[in-house]
Amino acid sequence: MELKSLDLHELNLLNQKRYAWTAWFYDILDWPWERQYRTWRPGLLADVSGEVLEAGVGTGRNLPHYPEHAHVTAVDFSPAMLKRASKQCRNAVCSVRFVHEDACRMESVPAASCDWVVAFFLCCVLPEELQDRAIAEFARVLKPGGRFRLLEMRYSDDPKLRKRQDLFAPFVRKVYGAGFDRNTLKHLRSNPDLEITGTRFVKHDTYLLIEGKRSHPGTPGYSEKKRPL
Ligand SMILES: C[S@@+](CC[C@H](N)C(=O)[O-])C[C@H]1O[C@@H](n2cnc3c(N)ncnc32)[C@H](O)[C@@H]1O
Repeated sequence: MELKSLDLHELNLLNQKRYAWTAWFYDILDWPWERQYRTWRPGLLADVSGEVLEAGVGTGRNLPHYPEHAHVTAVDFSPAMLKRASKQCRNAVCSVRFVHEDACRMESVPAASCDWVVAFFLCCVLPEELQDRAIAEFARVLKPGGRFRLLEMRYSDDPKLRKRQDLFAPFVRKVYGAGFDRNTLKHLRSNPDLEITGTRFVKHDTYLLIEGKRSHPGTPGYSEKKRPL
């Protein structure tokens, strides 16, 4: 669906405002979940190297886990979250550059400049209408053959788990602007410049890891993409 730029601006503004206050207690509220995420993060980031774009870096929970030879551009549209992330950065062995930008329009990140795009729990926050734009940006900034790794939460097919998720859904929506119902995989599949190389669940059927790469020029599906207007 194509939205007018004003609608898009308003959608993003709503989430941006939300994170201005969520940032103050984000790490405390998220702790029950982060206790398990922190056991996943090192393994999910161990092979990430070169020029890395992390979109929606949040309070920087991934930063201490990138290897030394990673140069991370950490993007977030919330100044308050970026401020928190700069503290986590002290424990990082990689180099980090913070950028205050919308993941749907990363003007400071040149096309075909990244070996990796990493985004954990960003697309479950992005409204459905903005997913294609953010994903198009991931494709634009990746070098041909560059890889991406996304971690997202989704609704379970197990009725018991689903019931528990339904209980949490209003809290998750209010505090994080997130939902279990995003169709990120579908949006990724519809991008002609990206190829999905693997999907797997990290836990139950609720935490989905999606991996892929930017197609090479000359391969079917490759197109020279311009930034969406
Ligand atoms: C649920 S937090 C996840 C934080 C982090 N990736 C992690 O794994 O803990 C989502 C983050 O994405 C950021 N975000 C949401 N929409 C964004 C957008 N359009 N552009 C940039 N950042 C965005 C929020 O400010 C927030 O910091």
